[in-house]
Amino acid sequence: MKDPGPSLGDGSRSHPLRAALGETGAIGATVRQLATRLDMAPRHIERALDRLERDGDALRLGRGLWVLRAFETLADRDDFVDPGSFVERFQQENGVSLGRYAGPITFRSNDATPVHRWWPYVQGYSAEFVRSMLSAHSVVRGATVLDPFAGSGTTLVEARRAGARAQGTELLLPAVLAARVKTGFELEAAPVSRGAEGVLNRARTLSPGPLPFLRETRRQFSPDALEELTRLRDALPPEGDPVADALRLAFGRILIPSSRLHRSPCLGYGRRHESDGPNPTDRFLTAIAEMTDDLRELKAERGRWGPDASIQAQDARTAGWPPGSVDFAVTSPPYVNGMDYVMNYKVDLAWLGYARSYRDLTLLRRAEVACDNLPRSETLRYVGLERTPDPWLNEILPRIRENVARKGSYRRDDMHAIVHRYFADLKPVLAGVYRALVPGGRFVLVVGDSLLAGTYVPGDLLVARLGTSVGFSIASVEVARRRRSGQRRSFELRESVVTLERPRGAG
Ligand SMILES: C[S@@+](CC[C@H](N)C(=O)[O-])C[C@H]1O[C@@H](n2cnc3c(N)ncnc32)[C@H](O)[C@@H]1O
Repeated sequence: MKDPGPSLGDGSRSHPLRAALGETGAIGATVRQLATRLDMAPRHIERALDRLERDGDALRLGRGLWVLRAFETLADRDDFVDPGSFVERFQQENGVSLGRYAGPITFRSNDATPVHRWWPYVQGYSAEFVRSMLSAHSVVRGATVLDPFAGSGTTLVEARRAGARAQGTELLLPAVLAARVKTGFELEAAPVSRGAEGVLNRARTLSPGPLPFLRETRRQFSPDALEELTRLRDALPPEGDPVADALRLAFGRILIPSSRLHRSPCLGYGRRHESDGPNPTDRFLTAIAEMTDDLRELKAERGRWGPDASIQAQDARTAGWPPGSVDFAVTSPPYVNGMDYVMNYKVDLAWLGYARSYRDLTLLRRAEVACDNLPRSETLRYVGLERTPDPWLNEILPRIRENVARKGSYRRDDMHAIVHRYFADLKPVLAGVYRALVPGGRFVLVVGDSLLAGTYVPGDLLVARLGTSVGFSIASVEVARRRRSGQRRSFELRESVVTLERPRGAG
């Protein structure tokens, strides 16, 4: 690598660094990307960028991205279509104005809520939100409630507590385990406590066991934590009966807190001194104590429970729910280019034995709704811009493709194909839920918009429009909260509650 030393970024407007950054336009570039592009050492790029920043020419955005000041305000760019104009078009074309949803929506409050706290799923929504939806849509005892992307079972727990028949599909097996255990209200506390004692007694007699296949396991955990966790894991009874499943879930819950990792919401390295906290055995005992306390409390409402919940480890795109079998559906699908659930839950997948190789992780990623880590072979069919699921995508996808091409070194050059596939993945789920709902039945989705490769993608409005393409009418779109773009902290995104209705008398 040639290294011209610290003279780079000398303030000259025609300097190669300014030119390279300018070419990346509104998307910006990281130090590493600029270093590769200019074939220079990252430390010199960093120094030059600092100088450009001091001179007011460049600024640092979220995720280590740098952008020229001229590109800071996306809305000023000729090729940028801002959120407001999509909202206006939505009103004109779909006849719906955006409202407000005032209740709490994020999973945060679930961390302290009995039963929901058994497996904190940061990607979930709050139990309060589900309760308010069940009541707002007059879901009565004995009704059937469906969640096609059931996650850790927030919907299913609340639906069953309200006396409904709860059913869901979900592909991520640690989440399926959580949903199954959390909806098994009949479980008694005493056998769980006895089972946990048995696990601890067995673990004491075992030698440390083999590590899961993940290459970075030794980096993720201290040697002491690894020994203790492998012994606890090997002492768990085989999955399959309610007590064994509850013990396994408690073990799953302690994995990330016992590691050097944190999830907020993406998995990353955080605490260096994980030895500061309680050891895995103490964490396991705390998890069991919370579970048994909640099980005792739950029994007070026994008379109100709906029938056994059903959670299927199944692909929502092809689930084939029986026609007319569902009264109300509520979910939060993955967001466009949002979360790679497989990457974020690989530790849980590997330690709980649900994935035994990197190939297993890839297979699961292929089945999940598209995220931006999808293998390239999975986006090939979507690279062309024909047959997009909504006319708005005919404008948005080429814009993403052009921005990525202009930048030259974006993470992937098929980003537009990933977005295309994301909406193509959601459409059969919408169609399946439409068929499954009774006439007049409603489908509520919590979904966000995105900023991708400097292009605004109104994910919530697109989902509502896709709904109409399979027969739904749009009852409302209500903005529940504002959030910041990970790509550009100054850019405000939203999270909306989209309510669709299967019209009465429709075929
Ligand atoms: C936002 S989360 C749902 C969280 C859930 N509402 C809760 O509170 O726990 C989206 C879920 O969709 C699941 N998912 C993605 N693609 C799927 C597919 N094709 N079929 C079924 N589930 C899928 C993911 O594994 C993830 O758990």
